[in-house]
Amino acid sequence: MTEISGWRKRMRVVLGGAGALIALAGVTAPLESSHMTTIAVHHLLHAGLAFGAGLLALMMARSREDPERVGWVWPAIVAPALGLAFMWPSEYAWLMEHPWLHVLDHLSIALLAGLAVYASEAYWRGLGGLMLVLVVAMDAAAAGGFGVSRGPSFLLQAQPATISGAAAAEVAAKHQQPIRTLHRLGAQLYQTMGCSGCHSVNGAPGVGPTWKNLAGYPQKLANGQTAIADYQFLRTMILDPGKIDLAGFPQGVMPNTYRAMLTGKKHPQETRLNALIWYINILSDRRSKDSQPPVPDPLRQARSTARAGG
Ligand code: HEC
Repeated sequence: MTEISGWRKRMRVVLGGAGALIALAGVTAPLESSHMTTIAVHHLLHAGLAFGAGLLALMMARSREDPERVGWVWPAIVAPALGLAFMWPSEYAWLMEHPWLHVLDHLSIALLAGLAVYASEAYWRGLGGLMLVLVVAMDAAAAGGFGVSRGPSFLLQAQPATISGAAAAEVAAKHQQPIRTLHRLGAQLYQTMGCSGCHSVNGAPGVGPTWKNLAGYPQKLANGQTAIADYQFLRTMILDPGKIDLAGFPQGVMPNTYRAMLTGKKHPQETRLNALIWYINILSDRRSKDSQPPVPDPLRQARSTARAGG
């Protein structure tokens, strides 16, 4: 073995090892912290772990004795596409409640990213590096909002929800001070649980109705009747969105998975549910006793994170 190739081999082992460590850290991240980050930040984590796995795969493929085999072309095409499916973010909030499945999800992303890069490099020398850039870029692009639980694509004509004014101030404030009110916790959950993908808080149209001036206002139902958005109405809408069909909005689009995250045995105090309903109330000029949750807005004990039970 010449000196050059020995040096190359060592570089491959070092880079491959670094890739393996990065991928391992990314795959197991959901176990270390079940604390919810925003969906965007989480996509950057996906990009990081795909980079680690891809780097490892590239180094492995480069040490192949028989470069360039045509048979690798199919995995090179199919793996990145499948990898995208495992990043489908509408299940994000649900995965946050199931850390082990979340690890499995991350493992699939890592394996598919690795396979995509390995297959490209094995198919054609040099293509692996390009695939690595592509896969990481794809994951990182997701952080910019692509595919973030806005429902089926035919609904996308609607304006994406944006956050501004009072709500933006709320979210900014949460970075500086511990959460002491339910509505502030609600503002944070609005982001972390993905509601913001479909509901605006400033009146802008979206996949679902805006939360501005919702509480206390009459809602038009698909059957022609109207109902006031009081506490019970909001509660039903969040926990069983299939039970009430609003005029002008599609049914079956809002996830019906929130019930398990907000109520039941694990959340006897329903802190998060109350927080969301308080936040919806704060956004309305017609809020009243009827539309507010049965618990006061200040959190009794000052709790500092969105993990506050409930
Ligand atoms: C994938 C899109 C989507 C997500 C994510 C989503 N919703 Fe919805 N939401 C909808 C749609 C669509 C409707 C209207 C449903 C209907 O007509 O039956 C709706 C209706 C509602 C309503 C009733 C609004 C009204 O005008 O009466 C409330 C309250 C609500 N959602 C709360 C939430 C909360 C809280 C979250 C997050 C924990 C959330 N939604 C996440 C799509 C979504």
